[in-house]
Amino acid sequence: MLLEINDISKSFGGLTALQDITFSVEEGETLGVMGANGAGKTTLFSLIAGHAKLSRGTILLAGQQIDGLRPDQISALGVARTYQIVRPFRGLTVLENVAAGALYGSHQEKSMAKANQMAHEILTDVGLDDRANQPAGSLTLAGFKRLELAKALATGPKLLLLDEVMAGLTPNEVNEAIGIIETCKQKYNFTVIVIEHVMKALMRMCERIVVIHHGEMIAVGPPEEIAQDEAVIQAYLGAEK
Ligand SMILES: Nc1ncnc2c1ncn2[C@@H]1O[C@H](COP(=O)(O)OP(=O)(O)OP(=O)(O)O)[C@@H](O)[C@H]1O
Ligand SMILES: [Mg+2]
Repeated sequence: MLLEINDISKSFGGLTALQDITFSVEEGETLGVMGANGAGKTTLFSLIAGHAKLSRGTILLAGQQIDGLRPDQISALGVARTYQIVRPFRGLTVLENVAAGALYGSHQEKSMAKANQMAHEILTDVGLDDRANQPAGSLTLAGFKRLELAKALATGPKLLLLDEVMAGLTPNEVNEAIGIIETCKQKYNFTVIVIEHVMKALMRMCERIVVIHHGEMIAVGPPEEIAQDEAVIQAYLGAEK
């Protein structure tokens, strides 16, 4: 198993954001995470990446316990995340943003020339290389999302955590994003956990989907099972009221 989440819980003061979550992710898998606003999805990524501390449970990466490590240590072990709220260095160019990723993470590239070369290659992969020298702040939403992906890829992930990289995109842009993620996955050989509200996208991309509702995991399984799961249907119909 590449990732093992063992009975984890997270509270913020009196609020329980996640409770008793257990699942694992196989190497090479694409696992989806679904759930309404505030369900605890982003919190799950913050715990895996070391940006928040567990209240209970353990997290193992390739058999090694990673909860308790610092974010930079977890990144060096090959975990990369994108942020739901994109945060590029707006004053830097698109290329510089991605090159910064190559200097960090598992690559920890020491040569700036090599980091730039790697950044160009990744920008080509995500279809942004023609914007390489523009300030990051000048990109469109779809561009920001691609830049987030490129920054994460530049760190050399074994496990890539994608937090709503398709939110706000047009159906056409969603299709393009799925294509980019799948092509990069083949090329760089990583495992993916993807949070999305776009259920159709999850259905297409994922081997299995985990459903979180009010901090609890209510279902896990292949997309076709999840689509027909009673608890999931209830939770989603309930959420629409
Ligand atoms: N740093 C924090 N301090 C206090 N409460 C937090 C913190 N981070 C998240 N929460 C709370 O934990 C719960 C889960 O939040 P989280 O961001 O994980 O949800 P989410 O499933 O990602 O939602 P969304 O779909 O809106 O992105 C929410 O009630 C949120 O307000
Ligand atoms: Mg979120």
